[in-house]
Amino acid sequence: MSDLLAVILAAGKGTRMKSTLPKVLHPIGGKPMVEHVLAAAHMAGAKRTVVVVGFGAESVETTVGAQAEYVVQAQQLGTGHAVMQASSILQDFDGTVMVLCGDTPLLRGQTLAKLFAEHQATKARATVLTACMTDPTGYGRVIRDDSGQVLRIVEQKDANSCELAVNEVNTGIYCFDKTALFDALRSIDCNNMQGEYYLTDVIGILAKAQAKVWAVQVDDAEETLGINSRMQLAEAEKILRRRKLVSLMDNGVTIMDIDSTFIDDQVCIEPDTVIYPFTWIEGATRIGKNCEIGPNSRIQNSSIGENTTLHFIYAHDCQIGNHVTVGPYVHLRPNTVLADGVKVGNFVEVKNSQVGLGSKIPHLSYIGDTDMGAGVNIGCGTITVNYDGKKKHRTTVEDGTFIGCNSNLVAPVTVGKGAYVAAGSTITKNVPAESLGVARARQSNIEGWVTKK
Ligand code: UD1
Ligand code: CA
Repeated sequence: MSDLLAVILAAGKGTRMKSTLPKVLHPIGGKPMVEHVLAAAHMAGAKRTVVVVGFGAESVETTVGAQAEYVVQAQQLGTGHAVMQASSILQDFDGTVMVLCGDTPLLRGQTLAKLFAEHQATKARATVLTACMTDPTGYGRVIRDDSGQVLRIVEQKDANSCELAVNEVNTGIYCFDKTALFDALRSIDCNNMQGEYYLTDVIGILAKAQAKVWAVQVDDAEETLGINSRMQLAEAEKILRRRKLVSLMDNGVTIMDIDSTFIDDQVCIEPDTVIYPFTWIEGATRIGKNCEIGPNSRIQNSSIGENTTLHFIYAHDCQIGNHVTVGPYVHLRPNTVLADGVKVGNFVEVKNSQVGLGSKIPHLSYIGDTDMGAGVNIGCGTITVNYDGKKKHRTTVEDGTFIGCNSNLVAPVTVGKGAYVAAGSTITKNVPAESLGVARARQSNIEGWVTKK
């Protein structure tokens, strides 16, 4: 097997997106478009990937980072010119160069693997991935001779009426023998309707020189959909999300309503978890088995254990254990860690806090910058007063404490193991273990007050 290297063309601006963001960085399925293409190339066995950048080169390089190597095409003079920019970085490479476009996020790794396998099996110098389309408008047409041999590719703008009637199109995806590719690129010119150096001309040049040119038809033309507009972005997003839901369902996850469930590509969910409608699960999120998630929940970059229930919540950058119940109407902010068996519900916000085994924060609380032990009961309306206007301070609530309703815990402060805080207290001093902290005025009753008035 020869070595495989992918060159991804991504220098274009994407004018029709009407965006300051380079087209290939527009997110789809929760990650930049070009990263889907990179993933497919890696899946097909590419050991190196080179991205040709131009418009917004710096932001593409920063976003995509070390997953790829980069070459700059300062002026966009055509797809052939774009590939030529990679020649010096590929000097020491010998093998197959797969050329891809950065704006085709629906491409599957298996499809590229099949293209590469056929390219090798047929010992072709060039193999083009083609698609048959009912409406081929805008694409380059694949021109074959009577025996079916590929002769060349002609662009829409350069095609005659006979050629325009062909409905087999160039998807813009190819495998080339490296030496054959760069040799042929040396002889292309820009004498065409668009005044560009076309990569597609390489096919004609090789065929004319009797080098073996092969074509593989893609099974599902949808995969090669290129994104040029916001409308196409939305269409592709829908397809990609549906694919993700199908793969989750195939692996034993129940999705109650596929039209109102949005799950990013990187998310992992284990079997027998049920996802209720109107739920977004995003970023690097992992969910264990037998959970109930949603309805109406948004979970980002969080890890969730098994047998956990999350109803009507927004959680980001959190860690949630097993047999935990959260919701309804809960906001879990970054660095919240809920241990096994915790219960948080009914209008509670938790931020940058550890909540120990089996502790309960059931109603109307704000818990911020807190280290809470196991078996704690936080009464309704309890607030940690973590901010003095300049700095944040931590609150410690040790194992087995009972915090009465409507208490304020003014940080920095510690409530010791097994201690109680009387309802309505504003605690500013540590409460020792096994003690009762009371910090409120005593009630006095004035008898007969109403009649005397
Ligand atoms: C290209 C093919 C066409 C094919 C179609 C499939 C050529 C000449 N034509 O046409 O046969 O049917 O793709 O989608 O190759 N790019 C650069 N630098 C450039 C020009 C383009 O990096 O100088 C990049 C673009 O960012 C884009 C990709 O190459 O990712 C394709 O370029 P585009 O201009 O969209 O080519 P098409 O006209 O669609
Ligand atoms: Ca295109």
